[in-house]
Amino acid sequence: MDYRSLISTLDFSLEEQDAILALADRIAASPTESGHLLGGHVMASLFFEPSTRTRLSFESAMLRLGGRVIGFSEAASSSVSKGESLSDTIKTVSRYSDLIVIRHPKEGAAQVAAQIAGIPVINAGDGGREHPTQTLTDLMTIRAVKGRLGDMCIGCAGDLKFGRTVHSLVRNAARYPGTKFLFVSPAELTIPAFLRAHLNERGIPYEETTDMERSIADMDVLYMTRVQRERFFNEADYIRLKDSYILDANKLKRAKPDLTILHPLPRVNEISAEVDADPRAAYFDQVGYGLYARMALILTLLKGGAL
Ligand code: NCD
Repeated sequence: MDYRSLISTLDFSLEEQDAILALADRIAASPTESGHLLGGHVMASLFFEPSTRTRLSFESAMLRLGGRVIGFSEAASSSVSKGESLSDTIKTVSRYSDLIVIRHPKEGAAQVAAQIAGIPVINAGDGGREHPTQTLTDLMTIRAVKGRLGDMCIGCAGDLKFGRTVHSLVRNAARYPGTKFLFVSPAELTIPAFLRAHLNERGIPYEETTDMERSIADMDVLYMTRVQRERFFNEADYIRLKDSYILDANKLKRAKPDLTILHPLPRVNEISAEVDADPRAAYFDQVGYGLYARMALILTLLKGGAL
C-alpha cells in the first residue's frame, strides 16, 4: 500500500504530524500559492451526519488547492436511504475519486471505509470516538497562539464522555512533553475508561473535577465542548446536564491573563456571547486554522506534502 489514510489521531508519528503542521503554516502565510497543486484531482465528501465547519472546510480546502469535490451532506440524499451498505457505497465512490472524507455516526465506520477504498480515507468524525482533523486544527491553533506545543496545562470541559474531539485531542497532545490535563465534567460525563488507561500507562498527569470555578485558574488552554445530545439515550438526561458549565466573564476573572479559550464548535450555551469579545477567545480563529490544516493534510495524502 503506497498511500496513507488518517483514521485515528495517532496514525501519524510526531515527526509526520509536525511536518503537516509546518506545511499548514506555510500555506497560511501565502494561501494563493497552492491554488493549482491538485488540478485534476477529485475529493469525495461523504457526510452521514450533520456538519457545518468540517464539511465546508474540507470542501473549501480541496477547491483552494485547485481540486474538485463530489459528495453528499446527508445520508438521505444517497442510496444509503435505499438500504445500500457502507461497503458498497465506498467501493462505488472510490472509483469516482482520489480521496474520501467520511463522517459517520458509527464508531469504526471510517476504518472500515479505509480497508476497502483502495485510496486515502480521512475520518471526519466516527460516532463518539475520534475526530483527528479537528485535533490537527486544535494543535495548529494552540501552537500559533502559544508559540509551542507541550509544557502547558490543557483544561477540557463539558461532555468528555461522548465528545470525540476531546478523545482525539487528549491522546495526541499527550505526546508533547510537559502536557498535563484538567478534566472538568459532571460525574456522568467524565472521560471514558480507555482514555484514562491511555494516560495512566504513559504516566501523563491529569486531574478530574466537577469544579470549573476552582480549576480554571490553573489552565493555559481551556477546551470547551457541547453536551452531545445526539449520543444520549434519553432526552431527560440531556436536559439535566446540558448547561452544566457556562463560561462567562465572571468565571474568566479567575483565569490566567494569557489563557487560550478553544471550542470545536458548534456551541449551544456553554460559552456566553460576551466572551467572544475577550482577547483570550480563540475559537473563531480556530475555525480559520482548520482550513489550512486540512489543506496541508490533503496535500500530504495526495502529493506527499510537496509544495
Ligand atoms: C465537533 C464534532 O462534530 O465532533 N464539531 C466539529 O467537527 N467542529 C464537535 C461537536 O459537534 O460538538
